[in-house]
Amino acid sequence: MARPRRAAHRGRRPGRRHRCRRVRRPLPGPARCRAGARGQPVRAARRALGLCRRGRVVSHPFRERWNHNSHHYPRLRDAVPATARSHLDVGCGEGTLCRYVARPGVAVTGVDVDAEVLPRDDDGITYTVASAEDLPFDDGSFDAVTLVMVLHHVDARRGLTEAARVLAPGGLLQVLGTGRFRGLRDVPFEVRDVLTHQVMSRRTVPWEPPTTRLAPESSWDDARSAARDVLPGSTYRRLALWRYLVSWTKPAPA
Ligand SMILES: C[S@@+](CC[C@H](N)C(=O)[O-])C[C@H]1O[C@@H](n2cnc3c(N)ncnc32)[C@H](O)[C@@H]1O
Repeated sequence: MARPRRAAHRGRRPGRRHRCRRVRRPLPGPARCRAGARGQPVRAARRALGLCRRGRVVSHPFRERWNHNSHHYPRLRDAVPATARSHLDVGCGEGTLCRYVARPGVAVTGVDVDAEVLPRDDDGITYTVASAEDLPFDDGSFDAVTLVMVLHHVDARRGLTEAARVLAPGGLLQVLGTGRFRGLRDVPFEVRDVLTHQVMSRRTVPWEPPTTRLAPESSWDDARSAARDVLPGSTYRRLALWRYLVSWTKPAPA
């Protein structure tokens, strides 16, 4: 006896008309960055990638202009105290970070040695041609100073000393940089950085600004020891995507 043909659809009986019921579910709100005990690594990874803010999954603010530097701009901006009234970005290139940290009441200055990449002065932002090793500003002129991928272009100790000089007491200096591969002990960082790059580059539009770039001659340790000597009390962290971050709050005079 011929066996009835199996229905392709689960629960469908041969010979009967089948009505597919559409289940209407409410549209999801913004996804919660809550992954439960087993999802802790996922949540930690989202936080580390800047994709989780106040318990919500968000897209990266530089999704349309993403690279290994702009990936960290939100972290740099968020660390600046709300009371800061002036911000200097050294080696600012075409000024994306300057525009990102600009807000009403904050005077932003960008300097770079390359006059060709510097944009024109904009609302509240002044651009000046100058070297990180010889900044044309008085001592203590800025409440926040950033250097992004500039330190390996200059004498690191001189660059840090100048940045510290123009920073006001109580101000925050942040240096984002990179170093040369050192071999085996860098392998765990390499694995993380390659994975992070893979994940982020699928969700973003790569962006290459028209700025001069140099492969670093100096090692991770060089930057770390320069920061330790010139900026006592500074913190040094290896961040994702082949970057380190030195943060230093300038002590107020005793
Ligand atoms: C890799 S780009 C980084 C640009 C930008 N900070 C960013 O986040 O994309 C390095 C920048 O440092 C600048 N630079 C190189 N030597 C410098 C110096 N001695 N003083 C100031 N800027 C310098 C270059 O012109 C270039 O714009």
